[in-house]
Amino acid sequence: MAHPNLFTPYERGALKTGHRVAMAPLTRNRAVGTVPGPLNAEYYAQRAEAAILVSEGTHPAAIGQGYLDTAGLHNDEQQAGWTLVADAVHAAGDAKLFVQLMHCGRVAHPYYTGETPVAPSAIKADGGTFTPDGQAEFVLPRELATEELPALVEDYVQAARRAVAAGCDGVELHAANGYLLHQFVASGTNHRTDGYGTDVAGRIRFPVEVATAVAAAIGPEKVGIRISPGHPFNDIEEEQVHETYDALIRALAPLDLAYLHVLDSSGYAGYPVLEQARELWPGTLMGNEGFSEEFTVEEADQMIADGKLDLVAYGRRFIANPDLPTRLRTGAELNEPDSDTFYAGGPKGYTDYPTLEQAA
Ligand SMILES: Cc1cc2nc3c(=O)[nH]c(=O)nc-3n(C[C@H](O)[C@H](O)[C@H](O)COP(=O)(O)O)c2cc1C
Repeated sequence: MAHPNLFTPYERGALKTGHRVAMAPLTRNRAVGTVPGPLNAEYYAQRAEAAILVSEGTHPAAIGQGYLDTAGLHNDEQQAGWTLVADAVHAAGDAKLFVQLMHCGRVAHPYYTGETPVAPSAIKADGGTFTPDGQAEFVLPRELATEELPALVEDYVQAARRAVAAGCDGVELHAANGYLLHQFVASGTNHRTDGYGTDVAGRIRFPVEVATAVAAAIGPEKVGIRISPGHPFNDIEEEQVHETYDALIRALAPLDLAYLHVLDSSGYAGYPVLEQARELWPGTLMGNEGFSEEFTVEEADQMIADGKLDLVAYGRRFIANPDLPTRLRTGAELNEPDSDTFYAGGPKGYTDYPTLEQAA
């Protein structure tokens, strides 16, 4: 048999896709009042050619919100918004819609939540978040009490149940980029001494508990997880990256989740995450390269042919090209993303990038 490439159908367990081009999770700050609406439904439906369409980071609890007009999934109104999105996506194409559950932890902000953020330890992140009133410094978070952790697991479980009830195909647990689950894993942000910190086994415990509980609640085939080992985003510092992520991947492997989504952060801590994941993770592996501008279709094809990856997730190129799989398959020119409108409100730079057909 010929080697598979980016456009070969993929099947493993319950996951079946017509090709290997996925859309990476992208915060776009257009879910006004944290509730997805018709504009968001239109944006996602335009991108329904994706094999897996991972949504914008979405907070599973009000206290997990860190940015303006990011979507939530912890109340009925938000769930109805996601129903609108799921219906539009499924009417438009074959994409499997996975809602990314992003609890911001210490980089959530009282400007949006009205509360002191929670985190594994009371350690403030350097930096800040954008607000309509200007840049707001991150604040000192409050350390989560051990007794609070089961309710936090339950927040993820309830959000996942709501995603399924809304007609989404699953959820992606965001354990990357310095958000709450990454804050537990990373030695710099987790100084706990209660069995949820201290050593590698302790630091990976909470994310594994969340993944286990969510998988039990909605089915492992509806749960993906994203990691970015050693990535310093959001002021993350990690020691023992190799031991930590080998242990995390090993602990998650038996759950038989839909996929492991790896942001190739090997350039930061030297941990060869794609290679390690391939060796330690028996299931579907989705890679997001992190990304060189010149990452070509040929390179992606080669990675798939060599068995290094099963699916490739594209972020910025999917912002600018709603029909990205078609464009990559046909070698068509790509629209350039406009970074000035990545986080701006409204349809400009959101739903107005033309498809090939519209451009013709
Ligand atoms: C505008 C923007 C928003 C993003 N939002 C998220 C997010 O909500 N969750 C996440 O895991 N990654 C997020 N990322 C990271 C992307 O998923 C991806 O890893 C990154 O853009 C590199 O891939 P690319 O070169 O294909 O764009 C975001 C990136 C951009 C540019």
